[in-house]
Amino acid sequence: MGHSFLIKPMIDEIYPVIDYGKGIYLYDMDGKKYLDAASGAVTANIGHGVTEIIDAMKEQAEKISFVYRSQFTSEAAEKLADKIAEMAPGDLNWSFFVNSGSEATETAMKMAIQYWQEKGIETKTKVLSRWVSYHGITLGALSMSGHPGRRARFAPLLEDFPVINPPYCYRCPYGLEAPSCGYLCAHELETAVNRIGAEKIAAFIAEPVIGAAGGAITPPKDYYKIIKKICEDHDILFIADEVMTGFGRTGTMLSSEQWGITPDIVALGKGMGAGYAPIAAALASEKVMEPIIAGTKSVMSGHTLSANPQSCAVSLAVLEYLEKNEIIKDVECKSVYLKNQLEKIKGQFSFIGDVRGKGLLLGIEFVQDLNSKAPFPRSAAITQKVISIGKENGLLIYPAGAGLDGVNGDAIIISPPLTITKREIEELTHLLKVTLEALSKQIEKL
Ligand SMILES: Cc1ncc(COP(=O)(O)O)c(C=O)c1O
Repeated sequence: MGHSFLIKPMIDEIYPVIDYGKGIYLYDMDGKKYLDAASGAVTANIGHGVTEIIDAMKEQAEKISFVYRSQFTSEAAEKLADKIAEMAPGDLNWSFFVNSGSEATETAMKMAIQYWQEKGIETKTKVLSRWVSYHGITLGALSMSGHPGRRARFAPLLEDFPVINPPYCYRCPYGLEAPSCGYLCAHELETAVNRIGAEKIAAFIAEPVIGAAGGAITPPKDYYKIIKKICEDHDILFIADEVMTGFGRTGTMLSSEQWGITPDIVALGKGMGAGYAPIAAALASEKVMEPIIAGTKSVMSGHTLSANPQSCAVSLAVLEYLEKNEIIKDVECKSVYLKNQLEKIKGQFSFIGDVRGKGLLLGIEFVQDLNSKAPFPRSAAITQKVISIGKENGLLIYPAGAGLDGVNGDAIIISPPLTITKREIEELTHLLKVTLEALSKQIEKL
């Protein structure tokens, strides 16, 4: 390709031109094949080129692709909302459709603030969050994100919502081990709430398994029960950011189910359209909707393309595909197999500090020294090196941050489509091993 006016992630870099995708594989215009062990950005949950989804897209496009939500509703949007209510735990029944994960967390934040306003409480406007987190790139979502690298440029425009440490057992801020640690990192929330004042706090937001910011950091078993209890004790709503973990990624429809809690509001995205259409949602419980329905009857958010029938039909087809093929129920078994393979690989390389994660959202953290857990210097650019060697070898993996400060650390996420087979997992781990062997050679030269 010659000159380009397309603003790509790195403007001076040459990207392969995609031709097509089928299942877990992608093919570029030069005929090179890639195993998509990242599902793009943890998005292509059912793989590429699925006929049922293409058929549903075509069928909807032949009827109507777009109507504006203040003028019409559509069968596709209504059915999707019904299906989500049926599949989501508890009384998380109400869907507000948007187009990206950032819009979903931002809408969730706005709904939480509005909930308190409708109850006559105007002071509860802050949304607390954790460091080592990512909730999206729009300014509200970025205000909630504990991601120093992505905040830096816009820091003067952002709220200081991240206030507590992440549940990062590999680098426990207290140097303790769960469960004897007493879950001090969860109890930090209570301290933060007392410092700030519950009367100012609308909600607390967290990713059940920390994605891009932390490389699949997975809290110990009772962590979210403690967090939820603190929220309830202080009249604070709990928002689960399941943009990455939702739609079966960690082995259940919502990851929250595995932690024994039901959030008040859930942000969904990524796997919701599985990459076939831009669609995301803020999903609210009856408790959250009740004062809004009794009050102004309107949620103050929305986008031109919110609830467009085209994206809704795609998401509905994705949900039906997950259900018909019983994909979510096999995630745990595939996870155990893949994690075992990754553990074996870990034993072969002196620079793999930790293998972690849940379901098919697995992370590998790299360290310079296994004993001290010291990270590589930033200048070594280890994460970027693994990603680019992987790509050369036809393996797509997802970059992640690591380290308690969210600045110094290297990690990757392995998150193939949930439809991956055992044989494909073996191919993935072979390609990963080859990639890490090449990385090892580069590390020797540092
Ligand atoms: C947990 C989480 N929340 C929100 C977002 C933002 O979603 P989007 O990139 O679709 O705006 C992401 C994206 O990576 C995410 O991982």
